[in-house]
Amino acid sequence: MKVTLAKTAGFCFGVKRAVHMVYDEIGGLPVFTYGPIIHNEAVVEDLKERGVQVVESIDDERLVPGAAVVIRSHGISRNVYEALEKKGVRIVDATCPFVKKIHRIVEAQSEEGRHIIIIGNNRHPEVEAIKGWCKTPATVIETIDEADSFHAPASEKLCIVSQTTFNYNKFQELVEIISKKGYDIRCLNTICNATEERQSEARQIAANVDAMIVIGGRHSSNTQKLFEICKNECENTYYIQTLNDLDLAQVKSMSNVGITAGASTPNNIIEEVHKACLK
Ligand code: F3S
Repeated sequence: MKVTLAKTAGFCFGVKRAVHMVYDEIGGLPVFTYGPIIHNEAVVEDLKERGVQVVESIDDERLVPGAAVVIRSHGISRNVYEALEKKGVRIVDATCPFVKKIHRIVEAQSEEGRHIIIIGNNRHPEVEAIKGWCKTPATVIETIDEADSFHAPASEKLCIVSQTTFNYNKFQELVEIISKKGYDIRCLNTICNATEERQSEARQIAANVDAMIVIGGRHSSNTQKLFEICKNECENTYYIQTLNDLDLAQVKSMSNVGITAGASTPNNIIEEVHKACLK
């Protein structure tokens, strides 16, 4: 049986890097992550067993001088960063470099006097953090209504950036609405293509196999999307959370099988499924 494992299955580059950075810290002084390092209970639980704790606020009394605090890939605002520095903790900055780039852009552009528009979800921690690097208040726009009702003085210069995981077509649509208002706009597409690459690789593999396995959490929206894409190409597409959910006998009756996984699926689960199919 031929088994094709997608190269882009599982964690994206930024999350992989952040998770590794936490594991690298284990063994010394207390280690904390500022917020859960990833939305995956198994990983957070494993880290907990190894002594890594999650802090949610700068006022947490466990943040004593010398403790290591890992910043997750979403990043944090400048205020939080400076507050951590004042506490004397050792900051291990695992902010994804693509997100860090947005922080630098908004900092410089707002300093030049541009009003920052962030296309994204106002409640998402990544957007919260980006706002926190702007020197002047930023505006977050997520919907067509919000883009329609955006108004600023006619002389205002704008700089538009995007949350890294925002949908590209929707970004274009919102930028178009804002552009029609006649402002001087600098638009920087800061969408990361990790999700898109994962989806297009999954589509390509699914189109060429007899059965496709999609691994990921039941509530993970990006895994659900992957499943939909694969199911469109391959009728025998299976959505599993772990190896236990897989009907191996059925899979082994196929001659050509593909595997992909959502963005928060840990590598060991992917490997386990891969190996079981190869056996
Ligand atoms: Fe991942 Fe960084 Fe892109 S965290 S989705 S590689 S912006």
